Amino acid sequence: MSHELGIVLRPHKQATVAARLMRRGELLGLTTLNDYLEHLESPAGSGERGKFIETVTTNMTSFYREPHHFDLLADHLRQDRLRDTPLRLWSAGSANGAEAWSMGLTALDTLPTIRSTAMRLLATDVDRAQVAMVARPSYPLGQIGQIPAHLHRHLERDHAMFRPGAALRALVRPRCLNLMDPFPFKGPFQVIFCRNTLMYFSPATKEGVLHRLIEVLDDGGLLCLGHSEALMTVPRALKAIGTTAYRKRG
Ligand SMILES: C[S@@+](CC[C@H](N)C(=O)[O-])C[C@H]1O[C@@H](n2cnc3c(N)ncnc32)[C@H](O)[C@@H]1O
Repeated sequence: MSHELGIVLRPHKQATVAARLMRRGELLGLTTLNDYLEHLESPAGSGERGKFIETVTTNMTSFYREPHHFDLLADHLRQDRLRDTPLRLWSAGSANGAEAWSMGLTALDTLPTIRSTAMRLLATDVDRAQVAMVARPSYPLGQIGQIPAHLHRHLERDHAMFRPGAALRALVRPRCLNLMDPFPFKGPFQVIFCRNTLMYFSPATKEGVLHRLIEVLDDGGLLCLGHSEALMTVPRALKAIGTTAYRKRG
């Protein structure tokens, strides 16, 4: 299954993940890691797959993580050539949605009159539990400080939690999607953020996914990768325009 996800565990992670999987197995009355993995591959184990994905993936994220990308996003959205184009943005590997909401907040800040009919922001992840959090967003109030104060007007507070307000929620479409599978859309997306997700893949898988991301990126579109995912060889279709940020030529 880790093959299906494209994930290659680094050696220092393998023991931790194996221990977590053993604990999952014990809860199901399975005594060895092999028994657990066999159960997972069997028809009876289909219900366990979500838990497996939750265990092997890392969902660490935050609002406005790697803030320079949001400055590039704002500059990108300000372009005259996009003025009458329906905007399509994609947060691929969106975890609990902090990245997608930050993209949406940046869009609302840059284009205050934008409506959900003129813009769609797709937030996808392979982990269903994470996608469910985007569908019913609620975050500890302690995290609100990650978001620039002037954007708090787009958020609703509820005791110790906050969530995106209605205008922001209307922009975002949460979906479950494994980046290893064929994409169920052709794009084009004017902006794709795929950050801190490709780093778990083998070099060949990373290259394949990257190639398919480029295919659905609009000519002139913006692609942002995570801080440790700088491309050693930038594909000819892309031009580096900042730290792990690329523009599609054309
Ligand atoms: C570390 S989080 C990154 C979240 C966010 N992009 C950020 O940079 O803050 C990586 C996310 O990638 C997702 N992921 C891992 N393998 C995936 C795959 N094959 N397809 C789609 N998402 C995947 C994980 O579930 C996790 O939520």
